[in-house]
Amino acid sequence: MAGAASTGTAHAASPVFAHGVASGDPLPDGVLLWTRVVTSAAIRWEVARDEDFRRVVKHGVTRASAARDHTVKVEVHGLRPNTRYWYRFRAGDAVSPVGRTKTAGCGSELNFGVASCANWPAGHFAGYGYLARQDLDAVIHLGDYIYENLVGTVRPHEPAHQCVTLDDYRQRHAQYKTDRHVQALHAAHAMIATWDDHESADNSSSIGSPQHDPATEGPWGARLAAATQAYFEWMPVREGRLDRTFRFGELATLTMLDLRSYRTDTTILGTAQRDRLITTLTTDGARWQLVGNSVMISPLKVPPLPGLPQSNPDQWDGFPVDRDLVLRSLGDRKNTVFLTGDIHSSWANEVPLGGQPVATEYVVTSLTSDNFDELLKVPPRTASLQVEAQFQALNPHVRFVELDSHGVSTLRVTADEVRFDWHYVADKRDPDSAVARAHSFRTRHNTALTERVPL
Ligand SMILES: [Fe+2]
Repeated sequence: MAGAASTGTAHAASPVFAHGVASGDPLPDGVLLWTRVVTSAAIRWEVARDEDFRRVVKHGVTRASAARDHTVKVEVHGLRPNTRYWYRFRAGDAVSPVGRTKTAGCGSELNFGVASCANWPAGHFAGYGYLARQDLDAVIHLGDYIYENLVGTVRPHEPAHQCVTLDDYRQRHAQYKTDRHVQALHAAHAMIATWDDHESADNSSSIGSPQHDPATEGPWGARLAAATQAYFEWMPVREGRLDRTFRFGELATLTMLDLRSYRTDTTILGTAQRDRLITTLTTDGARWQLVGNSVMISPLKVPPLPGLPQSNPDQWDGFPVDRDLVLRSLGDRKNTVFLTGDIHSSWANEVPLGGQPVATEYVVTSLTSDNFDELLKVPPRTASLQVEAQFQALNPHVRFVELDSHGVSTLRVTADEVRFDWHYVADKRDPDSAVARAHSFRTRHNTALTERVPL
């Protein structure tokens, strides 16, 4: 892909803006800007059509406060659709790094980055740096942007204990936003993010987490509220609900799901989110319906493996009623593509209903979080090969699975097809690791099938 502008990398910036800048939630006429600053001074912001800020088109003044951990969000409107802009903040004499963003709109194609499962102690985020250098409309983040726990040995988490309180979650988010690859990614592209479990606690729901102990850690509701508050403070997402819909002209509509906040024992979506999703999938007129979906929707039988259960009820498999209602609503449209994270491995699935494919699902692998070979402590591309074959034998709708590699994905949407590429990091312990495209699949419109594209 074409190289991004020089602003795709964060410059050495004033320590006043130590956590970089970000943009997110693009609309046809606007975008959300984010930064964090510790100062009582007024914060001026500017949006320009050029990276040298000769043509400033919007500007304003805002303030930061301790009540929001000194994070700042600015809602910019009145911009042109499908257009690149540059933005920066000033506080007194301090100037932030320059960020680049793009409004939503309708071109002949859309290009997105896709990422999930960035565990700081498990490795470095070279995959984010790679996405920062690509020519993209936006980056879709499918969750586990932070991890609340302490798994991994490459570099230490802050705080040095599991996150439970608001201060803990704020400190953890702040640490991630000091990473140069995180800063470069946000400075280069607007992000459209939803969360998964590790922004609160492992396998979380509205009613608890198996890793939460109320006896020692207090009520789950307080912890979830703390995690939620810190997420909304530190992420470039609009206030309110995380399940929301973005329109890219007639080409694509992207619905992001929140599969944690409304989850109970019986529903993964909650009634209101389920109704909204089904309404969008069945009435929206865009050629493609993309769904940002933090956990796998395809049914999955797990081969008998030591220490592994034979199903994963944290995925949609634990919620067959919701899944049935959503998949049945699709009818024979065959224009829905689920974009999924969570399981630290790469998959291309033809989502079945009654034995027939009704949608496709592409799963991005983890940026760094441990996966199969690491959990088994075996070299990559050894023991996993047989297990991958077992997965495909047990699940004929799984057309591709790779259990070992880390990295990011890109998604290219045109009228005729959706193409999903996996780009793998050579060594997640190396902050300057090479990253290269490893696999490509595509779905032609009106088929709900996946097909390998030769490299
Ligand atoms: Fe994860």
